[in-house]
Amino acid sequence: MHQKTLRQELDAQGTDADLTRLIEDIAVACARIADRVRHGAFAGTLGAAGTENVQGETQKELDVISDEIFAGIVSSGVAALVSEEVDTVNWLKDKPQAGDFIVYYDPLDGSSNLDVNLSVGTIFSIVRLDEAIARDDAAVRIAGTRQIAAGYAIYGPSTGLVLTVGQGVQGFTHHPGSGAFLLTAPDMRIPEETQEFAINASRYDKWEPPVRTYIDDCLRGANGPRDKTFNMRWCASMVADVHRILTRGGVFLYPRDAGNAAQGGKLRLMYEANPMGLLVEAAGGAASTGRGRILEVSPEGHHQRVPVILGSKAEVAVIEEYHSS
Ligand code: AHG
Ligand code: MN
Ligand code: MN
Repeated sequence: MHQKTLRQELDAQGTDADLTRLIEDIAVACARIADRVRHGAFAGTLGAAGTENVQGETQKELDVISDEIFAGIVSSGVAALVSEEVDTVNWLKDKPQAGDFIVYYDPLDGSSNLDVNLSVGTIFSIVRLDEAIARDDAAVRIAGTRQIAAGYAIYGPSTGLVLTVGQGVQGFTHHPGSGAFLLTAPDMRIPEETQEFAINASRYDKWEPPVRTYIDDCLRGANGPRDKTFNMRWCASMVADVHRILTRGGVFLYPRDAGNAAQGGKLRLMYEANPMGLLVEAAGGAASTGRGRILEVSPEGHHQRVPVILGSKAEVAVIEEYHSS
């Protein structure tokens, strides 16, 4: 069976040369990160780096390595890189111009899964400047509606690359023999309805009432107000949870709760919530804070955190209703 390469698919979608080159560079970076992740146990890089990132989280050695690989490869047409692992914006151009890109990324998502050999990934979001901007960190606070492309790589049983450049969502698999990313899941769509939720239920006592009531009602199954039974999954890796939702539907919740309210939530707006929000919407799903569309949140800082509820459209709407009543 002949499968399109990443390049052939981007060409077929009419992607311009600058964006194509940037996405190809990102794909090369992700393949390199996959290789380092795979060799982690041999290289002794699975453990802690002995440092904390700007969010006060303990960094794994592979968090730092992945960030360096990404920043070392992804530069074509890029005015600035904004990384989860780096406090300040990494400006690559002195005078950012219209047409230049800002790339936001989480170099290694779900890195607590490294110790237990479960899926991790890399998330990225791309904005194209429509005018020259000052080289000022505040200038990268651009709402998710301005993203022109977003995606993630997943390092699981196989390495995948899932991408939107505005027309649907395409899934590619890294072919170990040739090194190419081949289109294996064209036009991924999220079913509107679902009977599967993903949430870290150990935070139950910290949840706000709407989330607690929603989960209580799901757990009551066919005898409760939802009139159906629900299955539950939690990978502790947003990439893996979103990949499952893009494949078979479901909802993912990381709400604001009493334990993370001071930070605004757990997940980061610009390199986790926005790119996943764009992908999920492009696949026919919805992405909400519970009280509004994620992509319309006005960023107040490039490491800002937000509540995240995303997945099957009708189920996200139900959860929003719990928040409004
Ligand atoms: P990261 O490894 O980039 O810090 O992100 C981890 C995130 C996300 O991938 C996952 O959904 C969530 O944190 C898991 O949180 P819990 O440890 O609370 O389950
Ligand atoms: Mn992450
Ligand atoms: Mn990370």
